[in-house]
Amino acid sequence: MNEQNLRIPGPTPVPPEVMKAMQRPMYSHRSEAFRTLHRDLNSKLQTILRTSQDVYVMPGSGSIGWEAAIVNTLSPGDPVLSVVTGDFGVRFANVAERFGLDVSRLEIEPGQAATADQVRAALESNPAFKAVLFTHNETSTGITNPLEEVGPVVRDHGALLLVDAVSSAGAVPIETDAWGADVLLTGSQKGWMCPPGLAIVVAGERARAAGESATFPRAFLDFADWHMTASNGDTPSTAPLSLYAGLNAACDLILEEGLQARGYRHDEAAERTRTAFEQADLELFADPAYASSTLTSIRMPGGQGAKDLVKSVRERYHIEVAAGQADLSDKIIRVGHMGWFEQEDIARAVDAVVACATVLAE
Ligand SMILES: Cc1ncc(COP(=O)(O)O)c(C=O)c1O
Repeated sequence: MNEQNLRIPGPTPVPPEVMKAMQRPMYSHRSEAFRTLHRDLNSKLQTILRTSQDVYVMPGSGSIGWEAAIVNTLSPGDPVLSVVTGDFGVRFANVAERFGLDVSRLEIEPGQAATADQVRAALESNPAFKAVLFTHNETSTGITNPLEEVGPVVRDHGALLLVDAVSSAGAVPIETDAWGADVLLTGSQKGWMCPPGLAIVVAGERARAAGESATFPRAFLDFADWHMTASNGDTPSTAPLSLYAGLNAACDLILEEGLQARGYRHDEAAERTRTAFEQADLELFADPAYASSTLTSIRMPGGQGAKDLVKSVRERYHIEVAAGQADLSDKIIRVGHMGWFEQEDIARAVDAVVACATVLAE
């Protein structure tokens, strides 16, 4: 059992193998030793993300992936469709607006997924859309949007597909190339079982080609620089060596477990969590047909009090679960089952939530 029962949807617990890898003393980032590690890491990331495209491991949190996706492929004023199924979809759209893109939002009721038909209809309203901003796993509500069905629809339209897979990649199987993602971004502190600090970004060929005529200014996040230096095993600036080593060790653990087995472990945790909550008469928030395998959300009985419940679970059981975000901040509880966990860690967290919810309701 993990010593620490951190059951928020990221950051997630870090296994000892990853902690140990990060303890390696510093060495030159312009050495063959680094280039070998970097090439090795990239090849593992391509295997895990099922892509033959470039993968860049950029210092920063997941959010810089949004910015990288936008500035490398688009120009000011470009019309884009932002699919919003929760707070992270809102934030992705907000970043696009700050950059001066012409953002149309397809807003879906929180707790529901965006279907391929809804995306198709929204795309038909404007043939000029240059890109679709899409959140694969909406961490704020506990929904997984059907990327595998939406990808071909976006491809048919001709727009680029910019995918936020921050809280799904590394945990559940993702077919980056087969599903048609042109850029796919994720963050080290979620399914990857690493500390925060890295954005992992797949830059597909179509995205890099779009970059040749895209006019947003870009410097540190410029895919062209990352592509050029990667061909030599290098990075444009000093790589965060400890985090790279940690991610490399985490990729070994992911590949040892096997992508499918890892997906099943997450599916099983999600299923058990949903069943336990339902048996305790707690109402699931996310549509079960699209419920996430990396976190589960429930409505607060009585509609509010999520923050008190989180506090009570922390104080009585020393387990950390999460309340909601934005409008849902006091209305839902989210339990993470993402990355490194045993089923019993999750069961303890769920039991604690149920027990505290019962006490608070009395
Ligand atoms: C779906 C999603 N997108 C983006 C982010 C932002 O990532 P970060 O906080 O690492 O910048 C998060 C963080 O929780 C997320 O869950």
